[in-house]
Amino acid sequence: MKVLAFAASSSTTSINKRLVTYATTLMASAEIEILDLNDYELPLFSEDKEKVLGKPKLAQDFLDSIAASDALIVSFAEHNGSYSAAYKNLFDWCSRINPKVFQNKPMVLLSTSPGARGGAGVLALAENSAPFFSGDVKASYSLPSFYENFDLEGSCVNNEDIKVLMQSAIDKLK
Ligand SMILES: Cc1cc2nc3c(=O)[nH]c(=O)nc-3n(C[C@H](O)[C@H](O)[C@H](O)COP(=O)(O)O)c2cc1C
Repeated sequence: MKVLAFAASSSTTSINKRLVTYATTLMASAEIEILDLNDYELPLFSEDKEKVLGKPKLAQDFLDSIAASDALIVSFAEHNGSYSAAYKNLFDWCSRINPKVFQNKPMVLLSTSPGARGGAGVLALAENSAPFFSGDVKASYSLPSFYENFDLEGSCVNNEDIKVLMQSAIDKLK
């Protein structure tokens, strides 16, 4: 089974990248690919720029990586209750090439933030909208208070109850 994972963030110190990377360790024996949104940076989407640029290769590459996977794990950064601009921009470009961006892949959706809500707002947004883009959401989990619940040195969740919750979410991909 090939699992594609990425954080919906362009921060080089992304806590969602730390979380999604940890989540992939819960997929025993899967082949894992972790993408970085910084490798898919595109001009700010507009229909005017689309007339000039057409279907950018980077957006097609991103869609091709989804197509080549059996399942997706995505962890969403919350910016003002919504997606990061970097993710939304790439998503908009991709959606113009293939509106079924998630291509019927089973998905686990995650989020985290330093705050107690752990990005629950953006996670709800992502969960509710995924079916409109052919995403098959199997489970979702928002990790609250990242810096309290994640061991940065050990690169893992440091709370046993949360570990169990995350494992059971990831197991839904199997
Ligand atoms: C522009 C901006 C808006 C933010 N808005 C929220 C927010 O609405 N809710 C929240 O919990 N954190 C918010 N934060 C804090 C982010 O959760 C925090 O920066 C987190 O590290 C983002 O995830 P990332 O490290 O994976 O990029 C915001 C941060 C920025 C830079």
